[in-house]
Amino acid sequence: MAIALPKIGFGTYLITNHELQTCIPIALKAGYRHIDTAQVYRNEEGVGLALIKSLGTLGLSRDDVFITTKVLPGNPARGQSPLSYSDTLNSIEPSLEKLQLDYVDLYLIHAPFCKNERIDQWRALVELKKLGKAKSIGVSNYSQTHIEEIKSAGLPLPEANQIELHPWCQKTKLISYLKHNDIPVIAFSSLVPLSNWRSKKGENSSKSEQMKADGKDPSSILKVMANKYGVSEAQVLLKWGLQNGYAIIPKSSKQYRIKQNIDLYSFTLDDTDMQKLASLQRSDGGVAWPEGDPTLIA
Ligand SMILES: NC(=O)c1ccc[n+]([C@@H]2O[C@H](COP(=O)([O-])OP(=O)(O)OC[C@H]3O[C@@H](n4cnc5c(N)ncnc54)[C@H](OP(=O)(O)O)[C@@H]3O)[C@@H](O)[C@H]2O)c1
Repeated sequence: MAIALPKIGFGTYLITNHELQTCIPIALKAGYRHIDTAQVYRNEEGVGLALIKSLGTLGLSRDDVFITTKVLPGNPARGQSPLSYSDTLNSIEPSLEKLQLDYVDLYLIHAPFCKNERIDQWRALVELKKLGKAKSIGVSNYSQTHIEEIKSAGLPLPEANQIELHPWCQKTKLISYLKHNDIPVIAFSSLVPLSNWRSKKGENSSKSEQMKADGKDPSSILKVMANKYGVSEAQVLLKWGLQNGYAIIPKSSKQYRIKQNIDLYSFTLDDTDMQKLASLQRSDGGVAWPEGDPTLIA
């Protein structure tokens, strides 16, 4: 059964616990109902605290919001031990404690880093769903091969795959596989083609100098389109995701952008413009992951 995944969510990577106390109330007031966090973002506490402080004030209850977090499965390539079945089963407890929740709406394996333990980790998520600690379960940065492993093991398929997607990185083969298997897609890093994307010090990415320069080109397809529709380039990129049927989770720490990023229903990109955006494909390799795209891990 499809999960009640809101189409537009609020991404929180690189937002501190402190900043979230301002950003989450702004996001909830603007209409966001999905908050995306992860153990590795080290801000689950901030999400939990902001929810406690703002839900009641805004007349919202726990059931009105959809909370996603992700287990870091370990990364042997970086010297981290892989989580076993029981480690993964237990991994949700500190997250629930920090989030001050009894359950999360979606629990994801953050990346397919652990070749030998991936299936055991997935089995643990299946059990967490049975226990009611995660209403739905999914994966992130998984390729077709990784999902086929789950299928071959006779286990339930993920209820979402969260992957990097934007006109420069369209993953068309993976998308058609996910559609064929009824696996909803959550697009992350939708705003990569913007010139200012993660441009502050310490916001690492694999964006090349050429990519940064292209984002500044005043004659770029994106800039022309933004003028045509009277919206920002960010809104064009986010609308591209929605019109492709993806859920989106833009992150911003600025009030006017948080509001702008959910203001996407006053315009529709026409077919010609959708085709022009489709022509911008560069590579399915990751920009959001400085160490390379986890979907390329066998
Ligand atoms: N599963 C995974 O492996 C994975 C990987 C990456 C991300 N994610 C999730 O996806 C979320 C979104 O991805 P992301 O954070 O990589 O990038 P993003 O949402 O595509 O873009 C964020 C960047 O764009 C800027 N920005 C936001 N709105 C803007 C607007 N309207 N106009 C101009 N600039 C704007 C932000 O700066 P300001 O903050 O200064 O506005 C920031 O530099 C993350 O926060 C996280 O929750 C998941």
